[in-house]
Amino acid sequence: MAKYELGETLFTTEEISVRVRELGREISRDYDGQEILLVGILKGAFVFLADLARCLTTPVRFDFISCSSYGSSTKTSGVIRFQKDLDTDISGRHVLIVEDIIDTGLTLSYLLRNLEARKPATLEICSLLNKKHVDGKIDLPIKYEGFAIVDVFVVGYGLDYDERYRNLPYIARLKK
Ligand code: PRP
Repeated sequence: MAKYELGETLFTTEEISVRVRELGREISRDYDGQEILLVGILKGAFVFLADLARCLTTPVRFDFISCSSYGSSTKTSGVIRFQKDLDTDISGRHVLIVEDIIDTGLTLSYLLRNLEARKPATLEICSLLNKKHVDGKIDLPIKYEGFAIVDVFVVGYGLDYDERYRNLPYIARLKK
C-alpha cells in the first residue's frame, strides 16, 4: 500500500480564519436578520460549520446530513445513498448547505435536487473549498466559496485521509 505524508500547507490557520470571517459577514448581510438553517454535510464540514456559524450575526439553526456515493473512489456510479437524513422539516426555511469541499460536484448536485423537492424558502451552497479542473465536473450554483483549489488531495480543517488529519488547524496537501 502506498505511503502518504503531509505536504505543503495550502491555507494557514490565519488565512482560513480571515476568509471564514469574510464569508460570515457576507452571509449575515445577505440574509439580513432572517433565520438560516445551516445544513452541514458530515463528516468533513463539521469544523468549517462550527467556525462559520460563530461568524454569523443572523439567528441560526443546525441540522446535518450524511451521504456517500456508491462505487469506487475513482469511478462513481452517480448514485448517492443517505446514511443520515435531516431531522428538520425544511419547507419554508432558508437553507444554507455547508460543505468542506466540492470535487466532482456529484454529492451536491444530488442533494440540491433532493432538498429542493422539500420546498425550502431558499436553498444555497457555501463551500470552503472548490476544486477546479476536475474531469467531468458538474456545474453548480455555488453562492459562497472560500477558496478555489487545483485538483490535489488535501487534508485538515475537517478533511481527512482514511479518517486522519481532520483535526489539523490548517489545510495541507497530502503527498505520496
Ligand atoms: C467529501 C466532501 C463532499 C464530497 C465531495 O466527502 O466532504 O461531501 O466528498 O465530492 P464530490 O463533489 O465529488 O461529490 P467524503 O465522501 O470524503 O466524506 P467525509 O465528509 O465524511 O470525509
